[in-house]
Amino acid sequence: MKKFVVYGNPIKQSLSPVIHNDFALQANIKISYEKQLSQPEIFKTDLASFFEQENAVGCNVTAPFKEQAYQFADQAFGTAKDAKAANTLHSINGHIEAHNTDGPGLVNDVTRLIGSISGSRILLLGAGGAARGVMRTLLDQGVESLTIANRTIAKANDLVSMADSNRIFASTLSELNDSFDIVINSTSASLSGNALDLGGLKFNGTTLTYDMSYKAEQTPFLVSAQQQGSRMCADGLGMLIGQAAVSFTIWTGFEPDTESLIKTLRQGMLA
Ligand code: ATR
Repeated sequence: MKKFVVYGNPIKQSLSPVIHNDFALQANIKISYEKQLSQPEIFKTDLASFFEQENAVGCNVTAPFKEQAYQFADQAFGTAKDAKAANTLHSINGHIEAHNTDGPGLVNDVTRLIGSISGSRILLLGAGGAARGVMRTLLDQGVESLTIANRTIAKANDLVSMADSNRIFASTLSELNDSFDIVINSTSASLSGNALDLGGLKFNGTTLTYDMSYKAEQTPFLVSAQQQGSRMCADGLGMLIGQAAVSFTIWTGFEPDTESLIKTLRQGMLA
């Protein structure tokens, strides 16, 4: 039986085992998928012990271990290489490959909701690890512009220089005064329940406002965007399932359906 694991701290809340077991059922393969709490000082030892096991195929990695997971791998691909952070490791005969499926997971979910985002003006709020993991994939969709707005401007400037593109711009949150086609919140403010001070940002021309975090009740960020006229609002449940689907395909070659699982998990969250 192929073995998988997800590492994080905290990890108790993780839906990854439920998601990957659903995918395995769809693919008609038997897997074991565990969740494991780790600590920064022992994370790389934990990874090494996991991959020493027979049949250990892959692992997912969530906060705060994505940078260490990237460093652990023998080779990095795509966004993992750009972001220097990985959420997916894959062992091919003991050779560990690093991938970052957060960007594709986000883009798949956004295009599922509103279609192609090519030519869109996108605002990405936040400049932490979550923003760094998705910005390259957003730029690769042929967007007209990507503005990264952060409370601390220096971090937004860092991401802009990393991206090396003439379609990416930095801003503080408070100096926002325009309207964007798509607004994506990657800050951790929703998780801590804090509201964001978004200066003069307008939502009346916004097709989609997306919060990369998710919880049962709508985040204050989405409530406020809806009240201010954003046409559609969505949280990150679809992204979570989308990034898992891309990981599963990397490990097994099978492309799972995500639509029905999004509905099932949403109902479970509301129950
Ligand atoms: P992650 O890996 O989830 O992105 P992180 O690297 O700690 O986490 O980054 C958190 C992001 O949320 C940062 O962009 C942070 O802004 P600062 O760089 O100014 O700290 C942003 N953030 C968190 N709480 C916020 C708040 N209440 N208002 C505005 N931005 C907030």
